[in-house]
Amino acid sequence: MKRLNQQLNPTKTGCEAEKLEGDLKQRIVGQDEAVQQIINIYQTYLAGMSSPGRPIGSLLFLGPTGSGKTRLVEAMAESLVGDARAVVKIDCAEFQHSHEIAKLIGSPPGYLGHRETHPLLSQEAINQFHTEKVKLSFVLFDEIEKASDALWNLLLGILDKATLTLGDNRRVDFSQALIFMTSNLGASEMNSILRPNLGFAAGDAENRRAEGIVDEALEGKVNRAGIEAARRKFTPEFMNRIDKTVVFHPLGAKELRQILGIELRLVQQRIFANTGTAPFVFQMSDRAGDFLLREGTDMKYGARHLKRAVDRNLVHPLSNLIATGQVKAGDLVRVDYGGNGALSFFKDAENMAIEEMARISGVTLTPQTGVLAAGTAAEPVKHGAGARTGKQ
Ligand SMILES: Nc1ncnc2c1ncn2[C@@H]1O[C@H](COP(=O)(O)OP(=O)(O)OP(=O)(O)O)[C@@H](O)[C@H]1O
Ligand SMILES: [Mg+2]
Repeated sequence: MKRLNQQLNPTKTGCEAEKLEGDLKQRIVGQDEAVQQIINIYQTYLAGMSSPGRPIGSLLFLGPTGSGKTRLVEAMAESLVGDARAVVKIDCAEFQHSHEIAKLIGSPPGYLGHRETHPLLSQEAINQFHTEKVKLSFVLFDEIEKASDALWNLLLGILDKATLTLGDNRRVDFSQALIFMTSNLGASEMNSILRPNLGFAAGDAENRRAEGIVDEALEGKVNRAGIEAARRKFTPEFMNRIDKTVVFHPLGAKELRQILGIELRLVQQRIFANTGTAPFVFQMSDRAGDFLLREGTDMKYGARHLKRAVDRNLVHPLSNLIATGQVKAGDLVRVDYGGNGALSFFKDAENMAIEEMARISGVTLTPQTGVLAAGTAAEPVKHGAGARTGKQ
């Protein structure tokens, strides 16, 4: 045997993991460590190196509300199986009593309601969105600090042996599942590190973060605050069973601006995909964008607040304009802000061809549906000849 001594690169990812990474980065702003952990788990799975007899991966996500914990799991499902609804969500606060646990695992034979219950965690339920190519299940336990003892035991069994026994003794196999758990533990400690002056005025640290200046020491402190809070609350038995704990960081102004861009593209995408009225395009002035950011920035609620501001100030007025026939297919609507507390809407053009609208909005048409992917394409999209000419 001839010795080659050729250096290999163990940090390189395969093209499938690369596609997932690209898709996640298009949808999720910041939270790089969480994205990286997901890529690691997926790459290990693709290489057939996941531990046998355990779920493919288990991650605990900590951090403040509206920082992207749930969205990241949904984005992974969108990228891999084409549908965010593939994520089976269990809100732990809702399963405190034994009759509520029955909603998850079904009741034993002979009990009232045995036949009518369709356990949320049956094999069919978790495998519902398997595709020809990808046989993965996504299970998300939200607010796990609120789980009852019965639910804890169930969760420990899933993490440890990748099995769950249903009320009627059938076994559910979780060895093709990714288990995500979320908790807001440590969020208030993180907040007080970033804004030490009792939470009203932004601290210096937070202002620097808002400008995108990364202070490693500070980010390390935020991480530790999260992990220490989790260690105080959860038993070592539980912490040892999780592959990785990831701390989601509070979002700064720069990140919220990027998220606004994503949200606006999603609204435009919805207009093309759903309205009975056929597509039109809207364009936002910088002033209008700044107004939405001011309205939607609330450090306590993260991007959740921003989403609500977009709904209230843009989606609802646009819906009224559609419903009253003021905006029609082929229109170009300019959205501006003049300083009176509400956005203003103007019709700047009409009867535009769909290709022109697609060009203006930066959206790509697909031949099958005429629907587009505004920079958030899960599928490769084609331009030109085959594209349908809208639903006028
Ligand atoms: N990092 C992010 N990148 C892109 N969008 C985000 C991000 N964080 C939040 N959002 C937007 O805000 C919405 C709410 O975020 P999400 O549901 O992920 O919050 P969460 O961290 O799970 O909060 P909670 O702890 O309250 O469950 C998302 O649907 C998404 O539109
Ligand atoms: Mg959530």
